[in-house]
Amino acid sequence: MDDVILAPQHLRADPDKQVARHASHYALRRRTLDRMRSKTTDLDAKPMLIDPSVYTDPDYFRREKRAIFLEMPVVAGLSRDIAEPGDMMTFDVLGPSILIVRTKSREVKAFLNMCPHRGAKVVTECSRRTRMTCRFHGWTFDLEGKLIGQPGKEGFEGIDKDERGLVPVPVAEKYGLIVVRATANGDPVDVDAYLGDFAGEIAHLELEKATPIASSTIPAEANWKYALDTYGESYHFATLHPQTIGQLAYSNMMIYDNYGLHARLAFPRAEFMDYADKDEAEWPHTFYGGLYMLFPNMIINVNSIIGVGQFYGVSRVFPAETVDRSTTLMTTYQPAHAGESVDIQKWQEMHAFIDRVVTTEDYSVSREGQQNLTYAPAGFKTVLGRNEIALQHWHRNLNRLMAGRN
Ligand code: FES
Ligand SMILES: [Fe+2]
Repeated sequence: MDDVILAPQHLRADPDKQVARHASHYALRRRTLDRMRSKTTDLDAKPMLIDPSVYTDPDYFRREKRAIFLEMPVVAGLSRDIAEPGDMMTFDVLGPSILIVRTKSREVKAFLNMCPHRGAKVVTECSRRTRMTCRFHGWTFDLEGKLIGQPGKEGFEGIDKDERGLVPVPVAEKYGLIVVRATANGDPVDVDAYLGDFAGEIAHLELEKATPIASSTIPAEANWKYALDTYGESYHFATLHPQTIGQLAYSNMMIYDNYGLHARLAFPRAEFMDYADKDEAEWPHTFYGGLYMLFPNMIINVNSIIGVGQFYGVSRVFPAETVDRSTTLMTTYQPAHAGESVDIQKWQEMHAFIDRVVTTEDYSVSREGQQNLTYAPAGFKTVLGRNEIALQHWHRNLNRLMAGRN
């Protein structure tokens, strides 16, 4: 068994989930091998045309930021990004600065990171603590957001202290995902409703036990969708990534499973062919679970470094200030079942490798494409092929959600 138990108890891999995970990922490998043997790929019904304004129109961008990123649930992080009581993170990429805290009772709470005195950011540097003090005039809040300290409080007579707590933002935590809706006092977040049928596949990853190893913030001079699109097809592997990803995975071959707004896709790893003719019992235990795509902007790469162990590579692409800029938050996690004797440095090197590929290859071509689409001739449309099936579904979902939004 490759899965090694990791102490302490609450971080140990669950044997039942391990069985479910292996079953799901082995089924995926069988289908992947079938595609590799037949040299075919999953296909959509027909090609799809996209108007460049989807990537370049500032007004569409403004509406999208509101409808998709402020009003819908968005993953702010994984549970162990704030593992212990008093841990906190700020999450600013949606626009409003959001403060996410693990309370004494281990619940997750989210607030606008905005002091109810005069609006300054309450937390600018995250660390483990029992209270938060605004650096402007020193108002102090407990981890539940309650105002508990007010220097010179006689100046605020007549102001109700109970109404000057931090403003709550809807947040929920389940399956190791911390999900927010970035609208103060907005509707509660229901993680099961958000994930729909995908919840089962997400649950067996045991994301709640995954520990962050390395993180990067990667800017791109491209619309967030142009950048995100580069994750959802393997058509470009051999041409854009001949020396990197193109060496590791087959080009233009994909297994695609739709889960409503979400999807799972798999890109065949080249070494799968080494055991294509062997009995399944003789397959080496290569961890590979494909890419889990969570709408609107998250990819979980369930993958491994051969001979080192499994990692979860989580990338989230956010719109930045203008239509032609985006910000990617990329974090590599160590799953609980990866074992405790693994060489962390190898994962850090792999994280740096992916960061470099994304920056110098994917986001370099994204910048060029974005510039060209900005000046595209009237009537020009980009085209997604039948082989770019995941992107077609994703864009259809976005179109549907944006229809009639203003
Ligand atoms: S703005 Fe925070 S204490 Fe004044
Ligand atoms: Fe790529």
